[in-house]
Amino acid sequence: MRKFIVGNWKMNGMSSDLDEIVAISAVAQLHPSVDSALCIPATLIDRAVTAVGAFPIGSQDCHMQRAGAHTGCVSGDMLLDAGAVLTIIGHSERRAAQQEQDSDIRAKAEAAKAAGLKTIICVGETLDEREAGKALDIVLGQVAHSLPEAAAGDWLSLAYEPVWAIGTGRVAEPTDVADMHAAIRAALVARFGAEGEKIRILYGGSMNGDNAAVLLALPNVDGGLIGGASLTAAKFQPILAAAQVSGE
Ligand code: 13P
Repeated sequence: MRKFIVGNWKMNGMSSDLDEIVAISAVAQLHPSVDSALCIPATLIDRAVTAVGAFPIGSQDCHMQRAGAHTGCVSGDMLLDAGAVLTIIGHSERRAAQQEQDSDIRAKAEAAKAAGLKTIICVGETLDEREAGKALDIVLGQVAHSLPEAAAGDWLSLAYEPVWAIGTGRVAEPTDVADMHAAIRAALVARFGAEGEKIRILYGGSMNGDNAAVLLALPNVDGGLIGGASLTAAKFQPILAAAQVSGE
């Protein structure tokens, strides 16, 4: 399976950052055996797509309706119209701050698929949940309830992002990552059969150029969802290089 390395710029990115996006797309071209993409604020998508050409640009959310009275929201059709080819759905920051529920995330993923966007659905436990020994139950519950029935197919990837590892510099232990990814894989295969083998499972949470090689070499770690270390080409490039090596 080709590795999939995706940058999540979160609420960062102004017109003055377009040059950095172009630089990231240029380093991505140096690693043709790795699939990569950048998910940026909706305000920048159109200009970024014009600037980078074929490099995949995505969004960080997508409304479940195609159009209508939803002030402030952006639909999958609109994102596609702006030139996006993928979207992140159900990031833990949105599950927490926008109170997104598994059922919302499932509906948004269905809408993204209908619009023709590749989709990354995020799952992950909080520190309290991990310390209470509930990490597996929480994550497998999110997987069960956030994925649409028609989940199989290469339009979909999952990202396991332990909430306590996001933006903290604290990376999950490789054994814990491997265990969680194996459990997610087993759930996908139980539900979708052989197609469940093909859904890429990314790890996210303080992944950077120093730890990417170890994480990306783990079984069932098919890529990474990168926050802070995706903001510059200089930080993103070593992750792409590690993905290239682990994919060989
Ligand atoms: P960091 O890489 O900054 O920890 O962010 C991870 C993340 O939330 C990606 O979606």
